[in-house]
Amino acid sequence: MKTQRVTIHTLRQMKERGEKIAMLTAYDATFARLLDEAGADVLLVGDSLGMVVQGHDTTLPVTLEEIIYHTKAVVRGASRAHVVGDMPFGSYQASLDQGVANAARLMKEGGCHSIKLEGGAQHAELVRRLVAAGIPVMGHIGLTPQSFHQLGGFKVQGRDSGGGERLLADALAREEAGCYAIVLEAIPADIAREITETVGVPTIGIGGGAFCDGQVLVCYDMLGMDETFKPRFVRRFATLGKTIKDAVSAYVGEVRGGTFPSDAESFAVHETRPQPSGALYSTAAAKK
Ligand code: KIV
Repeated sequence: MKTQRVTIHTLRQMKERGEKIAMLTAYDATFARLLDEAGADVLLVGDSLGMVVQGHDTTLPVTLEEIIYHTKAVVRGASRAHVVGDMPFGSYQASLDQGVANAARLMKEGGCHSIKLEGGAQHAELVRRLVAAGIPVMGHIGLTPQSFHQLGGFKVQGRDSGGGERLLADALAREEAGCYAIVLEAIPADIAREITETVGVPTIGIGGGAFCDGQVLVCYDMLGMDETFKPRFVRRFATLGKTIKDAVSAYVGEVRGGTFPSDAESFAVHETRPQPSGALYSTAAAKK
């Protein structure tokens, strides 16, 4: 039976029912399938891929073509989760027309179900144009990594005088423009709570405390892929970095010691033991 896809309406209903939304980033089909099967409601093909996949120090170098490439893969892997494509730096700042054309490309070529756009009140007009064009938009306020240089680094936002009011105004501007949900990144929990209680659309926190309607983490961070990276808002639910290194060093040892592969993992011209019928590899197409 085909599973029902999570839509922007499902997310709104979840807020109304007080059910928390679990969102994670994903960048390829294999991870997307695993996260989807484990129950993640939303998968974000975030421009954080610039840092965790490509090895850059910021998200700024990521291109629209790269986001489209990864989005296609995630869409193939996810059958229930709502897939959001992130609009990268430089793909919407030049003009409203540029923003609409590139968001349409991301939806059309990437196949995602909505897009995410960083910034508060300043891009509200673009949000309005996108929603009018039938493109659902997730907002993103607080620490917006594409403004890394303007913000002076990855810093908690809203602690200065008037900071809370400005963040609330940004959230209200995004809601009024038509965003169906808003990411609140690296802001004090009390401010996130006030925003969450004020706006009608779901808020998704990352370093925004427990009162948001949902949470998002970069999947590599919560899986503990990088043992040296542990900001305060990240909880490691696994230590995959260590697991992977242990597995690879076992493999290297077996290859060097000549104990991998065994006879059972090799082919003979005339097989003596019974062979399983069917293909050598099970492809995604064969599984459908
Ligand atoms: O790019 C990203 O992964 C994000 C999330 C961390 C919200 O924007």
